[in-house]
Amino acid sequence: MCGIVGYVGPRAATPIILEGLKRLEYRGYDSAGLAVIEENGKIEIRRDAGKLVNLQNRVAEAPLHGRIGIGHTRWATHGPPTSANAHPHRAKDGNIVVVQNGIVENFLPLREELTAQGYAFASDTDTEVIVQLIHREFTASEDLEEAVRRALRLLEGPSAVVVLSRYEPDRLIAARLGNAGAVVVGYGQGEMFLASDIPAILEHTRRMSFLENREMAVVTRQGVRFANLDGESLPDKEILSIPWDPVAAAKGPYRHFMQKEIFDQPNALTDTIRGRVDFLSGRVTLPEANLTPELAQRIDKVTIVACGTSYYSGLVGKFYIERLARLPVEVDYGSEYRYREPILDENTLFVAITQSGETVDTLAAMEEARRHNARLLSIVNAVGSQAARVADGVIYMQAGPEIGVASTKAFTTSVADQLLLAMYLAQQRGLMDEDASLALAHELALLPQKLGDALAQDEDIRKLAIAYANYADFLYLGRGLQYPIALEGALKLKEISYIHAEGYPAGEMKHGPIALIDETMPTVAIAPRDGVYEKMVSQVEQVKARQGKVIAVVNPDDHVVAAKADDLIVVPEASPWLLPILTVAPLQLFAYHIAVWRGSDVDQPRNLAKSVTVE
Ligand code: AGP
Repeated sequence: MCGIVGYVGPRAATPIILEGLKRLEYRGYDSAGLAVIEENGKIEIRRDAGKLVNLQNRVAEAPLHGRIGIGHTRWATHGPPTSANAHPHRAKDGNIVVVQNGIVENFLPLREELTAQGYAFASDTDTEVIVQLIHREFTASEDLEEAVRRALRLLEGPSAVVVLSRYEPDRLIAARLGNAGAVVVGYGQGEMFLASDIPAILEHTRRMSFLENREMAVVTRQGVRFANLDGESLPDKEILSIPWDPVAAAKGPYRHFMQKEIFDQPNALTDTIRGRVDFLSGRVTLPEANLTPELAQRIDKVTIVACGTSYYSGLVGKFYIERLARLPVEVDYGSEYRYREPILDENTLFVAITQSGETVDTLAAMEEARRHNARLLSIVNAVGSQAARVADGVIYMQAGPEIGVASTKAFTTSVADQLLLAMYLAQQRGLMDEDASLALAHELALLPQKLGDALAQDEDIRKLAIAYANYADFLYLGRGLQYPIALEGALKLKEISYIHAEGYPAGEMKHGPIALIDETMPTVAIAPRDGVYEKMVSQVEQVKARQGKVIAVVNPDDHVVAAKADDLIVVPEASPWLLPILTVAPLQLFAYHIAVWRGSDVDQPRNLAKSVTVE
């Protein structure tokens, strides 16, 4: 997704903007640009297609000097990734520039209207109509804030916008319209920041506020004033202290963010569990979830909605909540849920799982649930994100910043969050006694160490990955709690190595997919010692009988599967409830090493974005 950075203060704006854009690279982009107001009052722009290094070269060739500016990384929607289409876009008179995330759905009629009024367009983008509209409205009102308000009220579709103008050279104006990703206001000492995501400005401040839909922020070096698109002033917003430290958002000794985040998982899980489980009683407390005992008893159905990896996490959570809390659970994709006229009411607990908290399909599903008066709970990682703010309660993943596009620690921590939720609901509904609670709490206490043990096989997994790196197709099989892990393992491989991989419920093999099996299509069979182990053994036999190669994920000392599979990945024994967190980790490493071996851009895979804020 596109990235935005803005700065106003006593320091040179250019290096702050460029470094901020670099910290947003993981979001995916294909061109970049920035604009500053020079000491002589003129607005200077530098833009280029491709990676940030091209923009940095443009700036080195023609340096910029100014203490207020805006920058942007663009993920092309309207118009190819060229320097002419890169943001910022400049108004007709050259004195107003704009950067934007989102889509102007009615840009064609607006462009025709402006063209008829004498405006010429220098780009193919929808964004350029915004800056020309602001210019037209400013010409009429000579009030920049009012001009921005009037222009944005004409737009259809989600937009996050930041405006810089020579007419009011001491301020930036930011606005949020719908769900086009966050607009973050950062509070410095005598300086202020704007960004589309926390990591861009985290090295300068941890104090941040977040715009809601149809809100504006007028930012000067002294501070910020909030208003809405109807022109009403708004009270100062809560300033959140973001618990992430800049080091946590940096790669450290790792080659890729994804690698770092895979190995972050034992610590991340420790943070996820910490303070939520009383290990002497096994009782779970989730104060931020705002689920009173009365509400926990009144709920008669749970709906989990998410996208991608977060959706697969929800499939694991379904098992937890149905088996422990004895509540019916449906799980759906955000992009499907919002169009199927779902059945839910005030007794439905609607759970949105979203690492970024800004996935437009998930947010739209939340709005649908709100319309049915359901109780909204977000399991989210990004503090202050839209999903965290619009819900009635949250359970933070507490995974720290996840920068790699391929989600890893958000998956395992969101699975752990759902186990905690299931335990909490079961305890509040009198369905989980102290013995059962203590047993599971004890397993949770051992989990980070066991996950560390599973990850300790990294070198063996790297060698296995290289041995399988040239296959063109993979099948991932799992049953029960391991079926979602088969889906997630396949997604990891396909999204970063670009190899076709399909996750499938193992029991379905005989209903079709087994026709695919031959020596050219390896199968990853997830077969730890859980309630369906025996079924998985026969699954491995069926694949071997068709000359298919099998990589089996097993527990230690498994001689049965070892006698049949071609290769083994061994994970520590654990309660079946926690095995999904242990079996997914080596599959993350397997995908990572294949992708590295094949030379993929692991942290920014082609065509993908970290947070999908457009439909
Ligand atoms: C997973 O590796 C992908 N990055 C993608 O499927 C992601 O999980 C999905 O877009 C949902 O993102 P969210 O959790 O931020 O809502």
